Amino acid sequence: MKLRSTFTAVIGAGQVGATTAQRILEQGVSDVMLFDIVEGMPQGKALDLMEAAPIEGHGQRILGTNRYEDIQGAEIVVVTAGLPRKPGMTREDLLALNAKIIKDVCQNVKKYAPNSKLIIVTNPLDIMTYLASRETGFPENRCFGMAGVLDTARMRYFIAERLDCVPKDVQAVVLGGHGDLMVPVSSQTKVKNRPIRDLITSEELAAIEQRTRDGGAEIVKLLKTGSAFYAPSSSVCEMVKAVLRDEKKVLPVCAYLKGEYGLRDIYFGVTAELGKNGVEKIIELPLEPNEKKALEMSAQKVKQGIAEVSSLATAQ
Ligand code: APR
Repeated sequence: MKLRSTFTAVIGAGQVGATTAQRILEQGVSDVMLFDIVEGMPQGKALDLMEAAPIEGHGQRILGTNRYEDIQGAEIVVVTAGLPRKPGMTREDLLALNAKIIKDVCQNVKKYAPNSKLIIVTNPLDIMTYLASRETGFPENRCFGMAGVLDTARMRYFIAERLDCVPKDVQAVVLGGHGDLMVPVSSQTKVKNRPIRDLITSEELAAIEQRTRDGGAEIVKLLKTGSAFYAPSSSVCEMVKAVLRDEKKVLPVCAYLKGEYGLRDIYFGVTAELGKNGVEKIIELPLEPNEKKALEMSAQKVKQGIAEVSSLATAQ
């Protein structure tokens, strides 16, 4: 069996990678090439997923591989390779470990899928996306990261839980770095077009915002042996769909900034239109002064990480 011409390559067949592959297949988005360095594992997961196809009723195909040559021709490459957080670890603790992995993956992506759109998922997200862009030399529109869709989904769920309503009726947006200083934008948060500030107290809203910032850590603490993967894979699948179907959908993503919000030379969480060319347009939202300030603080932290990863690179 061969894949059809439009396929997504998923690098890293662990929790996030394999679940992303499953969502892409079962939602009929595209065929998938699942890559991992562990021998047999991506092949085993791919076969298991194909054996579910008669029941799930989809016509997509998936193959597993340990050879980078097999990602040739991929329309999108999703990178989930790396170590997940352990309890007590911050995303930044992962920096040095995952930087090495991202470099290796990116050299191969550059070699075998030079025209693909690259979506980074590995943490610390903003820094790994910056590193990937530098390592591949891909134009900014073709290299971006997944974090905002996830952070926003978490906030939407927490609000829905509080108001006992359907999560998809909650509109929210979380900007900034995918870390402790991310910025839930309450001025833009609504439930069925009603401002959230009219629906819950400011204390309740503050608690939800904090729970959103701690959303990843809350899962790590419960799982003990890994980090979240169901909501992250849903988030990646949403982005892959927007690109492959040229939806021009506005989603919060980690994109390269050239002056938006007064920031440059940084990969950072902002809202952007996703279509067949990847990040087609960055949409700058009107922010309240305190939100703008919070965004600047978050950017400072990401810049520190970028400086750290750059010094690691020169030291090697
Ligand atoms: N090249 C390719 N794959 C690799 C490499 C490498 N150099 N190094 C490790 N991997 C693979 C592992 O073999 C493993 O199967 O990456 C996979 C990671 O899977 P998990 O350990 O299950 O981690 P997961 O929960 O999927 O998280 C992956 O996504 O959300 C982020 O913080 C998370 O950085 C982490 C990444």
